[in-house]
Amino acid sequence: MVAVRNVISDLEGSYALAVLWSGAPDALVVARKQAPLIIGLGEGEFICASDTPAIVNFTKIILPLEDEEIALLTPLGIEIYDFNNERQYRNPISLQIADQVSYKKNFKHYMLKEIYDQPDIAKYWLEKYLIKNLETDQFQINYSFDTEFFNSIERIEIVACGTSKHAAMVGKFLLEQFSGIPTNVFYASEFRYSPPPLLPNTLTIGVTQSGETADTIAAISMEIKRRSSIEDTNYKPNLIAITNRIESSIGRLIPNVINISAGIEIGVAATKTFFAQLLSFYGLAIKFSQIKGSQSNENINQLISELTKLPALVEELLEKHNESSEKLAHDFFNIKDVIFLGRGINYPIALEGALKLKEISYIHAAGYPAGEMKHGPIALLDKKVPVISIATPGEVFDKVISNAQEAKARDAYLIGVAPQCNGTEIFDYLMTIPSTNEWISPLLTIIPLQLLSYHIAAHRGLDVDQPRNLAKSVTVE
Ligand code: G6P
Repeated sequence: MVAVRNVISDLEGSYALAVLWSGAPDALVVARKQAPLIIGLGEGEFICASDTPAIVNFTKIILPLEDEEIALLTPLGIEIYDFNNERQYRNPISLQIADQVSYKKNFKHYMLKEIYDQPDIAKYWLEKYLIKNLETDQFQINYSFDTEFFNSIERIEIVACGTSKHAAMVGKFLLEQFSGIPTNVFYASEFRYSPPPLLPNTLTIGVTQSGETADTIAAISMEIKRRSSIEDTNYKPNLIAITNRIESSIGRLIPNVINISAGIEIGVAATKTFFAQLLSFYGLAIKFSQIKGSQSNENINQLISELTKLPALVEELLEKHNESSEKLAHDFFNIKDVIFLGRGINYPIALEGALKLKEISYIHAAGYPAGEMKHGPIALLDKKVPVISIATPGEVFDKVISNAQEAKARDAYLIGVAPQCNGTEIFDYLMTIPSTNEWISPLLTIIPLQLLSYHIAAHRGLDVDQPRNLAKSVTVE
């Protein structure tokens, strides 16, 4: 322990270390700085890892090391010290994870299994978060923290990376257009070095399925620090974390956590956690609308009633599209570029569709707001570049269809993610989705896109669950 302490005092940068010494084969010394390290307490054993999925099949009792801590593990127990050699005392915690979640069932890949978990996630979300108040007969969103501070919130800033940022963008749409609260979404990696000027009465939301993404944690920590240094209480940090890991670094940094409760996700490309993050934003939008009175009860009830249909709708989509997207994947597994278009609430879904395809199939894909296509991306189009347009009935439906027409005029093969309705005959191939209220459409349009990406990557014979160069928790800057 003394030797490790001496060495780490000379180390620079981030690390999570586990050190063995042949002179004390029963002991293990672990230390961390700006990188996660958790200790699992098994039966007669300790297990160290950077992430809970690695140990969840061995134990559900964990003791996460905090930043700049060092611990000695021996058969007698665990001793934790901070880097100033002060002994630290705290109790292990229990992971709240359902038993079955880390098994692949009969699916070929975890990713497909996780896509199929989504109806259950919707069901669970409805049971856990949507509670009927029997006195008022109104539904309420059951978040575990005190939401008193919501009253004073005038604006929201959200920091996230990758897929979580796309969920945050749908969240922004809901929070602004449904709940009427000005909201900005930032790449965490940009926010931490060029944050916007501080404004009062701001809610900061960190979105990260792993709860360990270094850029997101750093952005939130920076925001807490700069807000805490101001005396005016209107500038105090108001924070929410949206994560799948309440025991993670973000869960320990922020007291108000929305647990997306998606169960462990093994596939590196996020699918069910994205879906569950979206649901969390629906919950927030409903909560804010109720608190601020920005939507009538009738509109809120209508949204809630649409959400209650989700488990059946998602199940229907999986049934309808699994085989057909496998067939489509046969025709497309050799393409080089794909353009995804969406507008309004489905613009982030175009981005997410493109990201999913890139991540696991290594095919170049780019998502655009459909109206932007004519300002550049249209130059890429010819018959070798398929265009996937998300067109859901609503305010921008006709616009998306006319943007798709522009692509067709350049010989692009058109795939539509849309209901069977007037206008959609323009598509060469239609991935049909049920005709529902536009507000909930992202929760549906994402499903065929996840399936298509999965089948293209699987058809190319790639390691779908562990794509090259990517990690489930990106704990480095
Ligand atoms: C990595 C993954 C992405 C993920 C991003 C953010 O880059 O490859 O799929 O979206 O991290 O992860 P988070 O855990 O913060 O949601």
